[in-house]
Amino acid sequence: MKEIVEQLEQKRAAAALGGGQQRIDTQHSRGKLTARERIELLLDEGSFEEWDTFVEHRCTDFGMEEKKVLGDGVVTGYGTINGRMVFVFSQDFTVFGGSLSEAHAEKICKVMDQAMKVGAPVIGLNDSGGARIQEGVVSLGGYAEVFQRNVLASGVVPQISVIMGPCAGGAVYSPAMTDFIFMVKDSSYMFVTGPDVVKTVTHEKITAEELGGAVTHSTISGVCDCAYENDVETLAMVRRFINYLPSNNREKPPFRPTPDQPGRMEMSLDTLIPDNPTKPYDMKEAIRKVVDDNEFWELQPDHARNIIIGLARMDGHPVGIVANQPMVQAGCLDIKSSIKAGRFVRFCDAFNIPIVTFVDVPGFMPGSAQEYGGIIKHGAKLLFAYAEATVPKITIITRKAYGGAYDVMSSKHLRGDVNLAWPSAEIAVMGPKGAVEIIFRTDIGDAEKIAERTEEYRQKFANPFIAASRGYIDDVIAPHATRKRICRSLAMLRDKQLDNPWRKHDNIPL
Ligand code: HXC
Repeated sequence: MKEIVEQLEQKRAAAALGGGQQRIDTQHSRGKLTARERIELLLDEGSFEEWDTFVEHRCTDFGMEEKKVLGDGVVTGYGTINGRMVFVFSQDFTVFGGSLSEAHAEKICKVMDQAMKVGAPVIGLNDSGGARIQEGVVSLGGYAEVFQRNVLASGVVPQISVIMGPCAGGAVYSPAMTDFIFMVKDSSYMFVTGPDVVKTVTHEKITAEELGGAVTHSTISGVCDCAYENDVETLAMVRRFINYLPSNNREKPPFRPTPDQPGRMEMSLDTLIPDNPTKPYDMKEAIRKVVDDNEFWELQPDHARNIIIGLARMDGHPVGIVANQPMVQAGCLDIKSSIKAGRFVRFCDAFNIPIVTFVDVPGFMPGSAQEYGGIIKHGAKLLFAYAEATVPKITIITRKAYGGAYDVMSSKHLRGDVNLAWPSAEIAVMGPKGAVEIIFRTDIGDAEKIAERTEEYRQKFANPFIAASRGYIDDVIAPHATRKRICRSLAMLRDKQLDNPWRKHDNIPL
């Protein structure tokens, strides 16, 4: 028996070496950790239970039968983060560049299937050259098996992808279908086709960093939700992030007690809105001052900055925050911001996370670029997402809520549960100047008359009281009482029950 146990230990030691010490050294020299080192940092100490350590690929082409590595380039299993169960796979770049073989895919599918059975999140640490080229269509089939599971798990258990090296081809489509993508700056890349293929096909010369680095995806494309400096920081942030999420769609998100009183008044909010209605202010200041301990986890902070999305807690309970940002494009809604916020609203709704919406929006961005880009369809995504969401929805209109954007931003008419306005709110079809220039077009040459009409319009419509008189606004509140009013509303809504009519699925304008 002793001998057998020794053999087992030897096998485990061989598996732990992956593609060998030399490749591990190369991985380290690039500032990257190995697959196992990453799992150790991600999970609670000593909690990892590894599966399929002894799995090998079955390829016999191109001399592959001579090149077998225990585990076949991915470390899989389960463990805990702050005591809560998660399933994990971590691709090992030292083994065939972390590429996905049939056996490698089977290992990932096994943990995904188990996560679905027990209702726990799946975290994928991706570092892969894509489909294992030597295996051809078999590896493509493996990817499709993973994709299918990504889709079936979507909205059932949270799925988080951490991109920790080059990810090409199939290696980007699985993350794309998960809920959140974290990237490591300067050492991770995501592209469907790499720079060499781009050069061959389109003659465009571009570096990997420019094409699919963390900066590109967290600013231009919006594919990346959060980017950090290195492996260690990224994994530490994933550990913190998971604290906001329920383990599955049947649970409520985890409560965390806070010393921050729900009734805390924030007097400085009373002076946040400038006297001049065209002057911007930072909506993030309002958010931070309202949420527990001023802690706001912003997602995609550098993409579509005219809308803010992220997670926070109110009286210890996680909430999703969506807010217009008057500092960027006056907070107008456009294609990118609608897509960004629409997907986030759907995530919150799928996982029982109440949504708090801060509104200061002058409307949808006008212009041919937006129309040609399909703002009609993309703007409708956000409208659709809010309208179908059944989680508690609280809306605070701080200043402008004009036109269609008023309707879209979690209005009462879209089943907003509690809709509040600050006294500075202006709820109307459009701003006073634009309105007067349309309805009093014949007076346009007469500056005095126009000024008079504008003031009249401002007095009559640029305030929250007409909406309040209709009950579209439940109350007009002092800004300093915002936290208290939101916390009370959320407490009232804790056992909210609302179901949409039965259907196979909806048909959101994709
Ligand atoms: C098999 C692979 C591999 C792959 C890398 N390797 N990618 N082996 N299949 N897809 C191996 C290399 O042969 C090498 O082996 C080791 O991994 C490290 O690779 P290097 O090229 O030396 O590393 P680096 O210079 O860092 O470049 C990493 C890389 C590059 C950018 C990922 O290897 C690369 O471009 N690979 C191919 C990417 C690709 O086109 N994949 C197929 C995508 S198609 P040794 O033995 O030398 O260490 C796809 C289809 C799915 O995925 C579509 C579904 C929708």
